[in-house]
Amino acid sequence: MIRHTKIIGTGGYLPETTYSNEHISTLVDTSDEWIFERTGIKSRHIAAAHESAASMAETAARQAIAAAEIDASQIDLIIVATGTPDNVYPSTACLLQHRLGIKTGVAFDIQAACSGAIFALSIADQYIKSGMANTVLIIGSELCSRIVDWTDRGTCILFGDGAGAMLLTASAEAGVLSTHIHSNGEFENLLYCSNPQAAAEAPENAANSGCITMRGNEVFKVAVNTLERIVDETLEANGLEKTAIDWLVPHQANIRIIAATAKKLKMPMEQVVVTLETQGNTSSASVLLAFNEAVRDGRIQRGQVVLMEAFGAGFTWGSALIKY
Ligand code: UT7
Repeated sequence: MIRHTKIIGTGGYLPETTYSNEHISTLVDTSDEWIFERTGIKSRHIAAAHESAASMAETAARQAIAAAEIDASQIDLIIVATGTPDNVYPSTACLLQHRLGIKTGVAFDIQAACSGAIFALSIADQYIKSGMANTVLIIGSELCSRIVDWTDRGTCILFGDGAGAMLLTASAEAGVLSTHIHSNGEFENLLYCSNPQAAAEAPENAANSGCITMRGNEVFKVAVNTLERIVDETLEANGLEKTAIDWLVPHQANIRIIAATAKKLKMPMEQVVVTLETQGNTSSASVLLAFNEAVRDGRIQRGQVVLMEAFGAGFTWGSALIKY
């Protein structure tokens, strides 16, 4: 049997507290009008003090396990993508494994910034197709609010917290059609978050140590061009025309970046899953949260073709074409 990778369950978690653009306008010199017009964001969720990447991941994971109607013990690989792990080690994936009562298999974290969900999906697909794993849980869980500089209006308006989950299993039927992941470390200075405990900081950078630092306008331009290229790469690899795609589930960084990718695909925005307005950019959680939302509200149906894509610090970028 040719082993394919099939999605069998999804889940998501968003913290209860939200920060509106109006609230952020009381913290930095900005306005609801500016933020919404330039980004498409109206509000974002902010984790409570007691929450962590592992706790949010657990809630999202339990939803995905319930949706898939499997027992957690069947999961033999857990991959958590996060830029805000609970500890340097053990990995958040190991903490999650314990929270789920799983004592077998393997669990590890990956770091690909906002592309984390696509990287995790790509790794899961290779493990399943090769027979190294049968049932894989992938998670994106992020506490962006803890690494945002709340005095920097260029970044603090953008990010939010949340966790998304997806369960994948070996199947005779096609599911994940292809994944494409890339990185280029050349652009570290355009978007980074240093690790204050490990980095030997240059004094001029010390003020931003441990916070997201971004040259937004430059990142924007690279993101648009790169995502256009990955759309072509994905369609070519599958011998498909643009019209074959039913849904675009993009990383939620900026509505103008999403609209540019949709335009490249000649896709009306009705076929694009957008969560940005109420969630902001939840980094590695965003694609999984958006996919989960559209599955649960009935937009994405079994048999439909879905293109997921993301771009993030590194730079990292990637896509996944799925027959759901
Ligand atoms: O997910 C990982 C990848 N990240 C991204 O893809 C993010 C990509 N970048 C972006 O989304 C956009 O670049 C931003 C939303 C961050 C910024 O939008 P922009 O249209 O690129 O604005 P800009 O940085 O070119 O700034 C334009 C003006 C500047 O003022 P001057 O110099 O023209 O007077 C900024 O100081 O807007 C000003 N500005 C703001 N004004 C009000 C920047 N941030 C704000 C703000 N409120 N929050």
